[in-house]
Formats: sequence, C-alpha cells, structure tokens
Amino acid sequence: MGKGVRKRVLVTGGAGFLGSHLCTRLLREGCDVLCVDNYFTGRRANILHLLDDPHFEVMRHDVTFPLYVEIDEIYNLACPASPIHYRFDPVQTTKTSVIGAINMLGLAKRTKAKVLQASTSEVYGDPEVHPQTEDYRGRVNPLGPRACYDEGKRCAETLFFDYRRQHGLRIKVARIFNTYGPRMHPEDGRVVSNFIVQALRREQLTVFGDGRQTRAFCYVDDLIDGLIRLMASPDDVTGPVNLGNPVEVRVAELAEVILRLTGSRSAIVYRPLPADDPVQRCPDISRAREILGWEPRVNLEEGLRHTIAYFAEPLT
Ligand SMILES: NC(=O)c1ccc[n+]([C@@H]2O[C@H](COP(=O)([O-])OP(=O)(O)OC[C@H]3O[C@@H](n4cnc5c(N)ncnc54)[C@H](O)[C@@H]3O)[C@@H](O)[C@H]2O)c1
Repeated sequence: MGKGVRKRVLVTGGAGFLGSHLCTRLLREGCDVLCVDNYFTGRRANILHLLDDPHFEVMRHDVTFPLYVEIDEIYNLACPASPIHYRFDPVQTTKTSVIGAINMLGLAKRTKAKVLQASTSEVYGDPEVHPQTEDYRGRVNPLGPRACYDEGKRCAETLFFDYRRQHGLRIKVARIFNTYGPRMHPEDGRVVSNFIVQALRREQLTVFGDGRQTRAFCYVDDLIDGLIRLMASPDDVTGPVNLGNPVEVRVAELAEVILRLTGSRSAIVYRPLPADDPVQRCPDISRAREILGWEPRVNLEEGLRHTIAYFAEPLT
C-alpha cells in the first residue's frame, strides 16, 4: 500500500455486538471499512452512527456464499454467538463457521489479505484445567446441543491453520472469552444482558444452577483493543491467543452487583443448569500479555455502568 492510501478492512458480522464496535474503532484509526452482515442477530441500529461516514460501507451478504471484494485485512466475526441464537438453526450455525471460514480464507488467498478469526473459549468445552491456556485441547461434546457452535469454531481454527500450512496465508486466531458492553443483544440470554434487562424491568433475576459457577467478563473496548493488536502483530504471530478478562466472578455475585448498580429491588431465583453448561471458565492471558502487550483495563463495575446506561435508554 502506498503512502496516504487507506487500508481496506472487511469486518464480517460487522452489524453485531462486537463487529459494530470494531467497525467504529477501525474508522477512527483511518481505515476504509466494509461491513458485511446478513442481519441474523446483527442490527442496523448498531451501525446507524457510522452510515454517514464516507469511509464506511455496508453490504447485506451471507458468508456461506463466496464474496469477491478487494481488501487488505479481514476480521471474520460472522456467527451467532449466544446459545439461544446458535441453537435456533444449528445446521446454519455450523455452515456459517465452516463454509464462512473457507470463503474468507479463499478471499484472503486471492487478495493476499491478512485474516483474523473470532474464535471462542467454547473450543475448550467443559474444561478440566483452570485457567485455560491455549495449549489445552479442550473437552467438547461433539453430539450435544452446543456442538454446532463449539465444533464449528474448532473446525474453523483447523481450516485457518491448514490454509497457513498449505497456502502460506497470514492468519490470526483469537479465542474470545465472555465479553459484554453496550449493543449486546437484549434477548440473547447471555448472563450480563439477562440480569441487566431483568433488573431494569423490575423482574426476577434468573440464575441457572446454584450461582456458584464462575465466569470472567471482559469489557468490549478491551476486547476490541486486543483484536486490533493481534491483527497488527508480526506475521509469525498466528495465535491462537486467549482474549478475555481473567478476573473470575460468581454468577450469583454478578447478579448482586447488577442489582446494586441499577438500584433494582428484583429478587434472585434459581433454575436448573442447562445441558453442557461449563461450571468454570477463565482465560490464562499470559500469551496475550507477552506477545501483544495486552491486558484488560476496564474493571467490572465501570464496564457494567456503561452497559446499564445503554440498556436503560430504550427501557425507561
Ligand atoms: N461476545 C462474546 O462474548 C463472544 C465470545 C466468544 C466469541 N465470540 C465471537 O465473536 C463474534 C461476534 O460475536 P458477537 O457477540 O458480536 O455476536 P453477534 O451475534 O452480535 O454478532 C454476530 C454477527 O454475525 C452476523 N452473522 C451471523 N451469521 C452470518 C452469516 N451467515 N453471514 C453474515 N453474517 C452473519 C450476525 O447477523 C451478527 O451481526 C462471533 O464469531 C462469536 O462467535 C463472541
């Protein structure tokens, strides 16, 4: 690329939660951004603030079909991410991960673009080791109701590494752990958005299991910063790299913090744990610290305040 020429960046799933924040950040950094989305879980409202930007372009497209564009970098985020959505049409979920990855890798091969895969901590399944390092190979049930997502993402990782070995592609694989923030889908059943919406509506907060299971929540701005750093890393840095917040919180504790921050008097109710739900999930981020100089900066309360403010607007 010559001097003064803007980098052309493709973000698949760009109208989704993470994708919309990524598009915003890339535009701020001076890139031309092409956002591709089929609006399965993504919403135009998420990218409304970008539509007047002359360096931003949106295309309605399903990544399970080939895409022919000229591009320098690809962030492949297209995939429903919450159990409610990815289990709605499990065959389509696997197709999106696997055929979507093949199409984006094919595009990267033709255009010689760098390509980053938004993988997930779900590749570790219900893990036997805590916290999880990237070397841990995971414990996924290939037959269970979550397999369309977990195995789809695992296969996408395989494809990324085979394209590198076979075709010399410049690849990056990020294993993203639980991330939250403004523009999360209010109905996606994820614990943070669930609790906030229930608290703001003065409904009971539903805790699945006994609430002692832990989760580690990363604020969206931190996560996006990690993705940008990974893409900018030298070509020999392929990952996989865990990106997440290693501070563990019990789910019951999260419910209480949200009640306090929203000033809600909702009660907490306990329901049975869904099938294959991991009891503990926490990233070891030593690799991200070492090779990307990255670690989360936003603490849980601060991140929750921003998220609550976002959800409070349409609800109040
Ligand atoms: N948010 C998290 O905590 C988290 C954790 C781990 C991994 N991830 C990964 O990050 C990516 C983005 O997640 P998110 O939380 O923003 O979810 P999201 O559902 O908000 O975003 C996914 C986007 O992909 C789009 N999409 C789905 N199928 C598509 C298809 N076939 N063609 C084109 N677009 C399609 C959706 O419409 C949506 O805009 C996903 O790949 C997800 O697996 C997210």
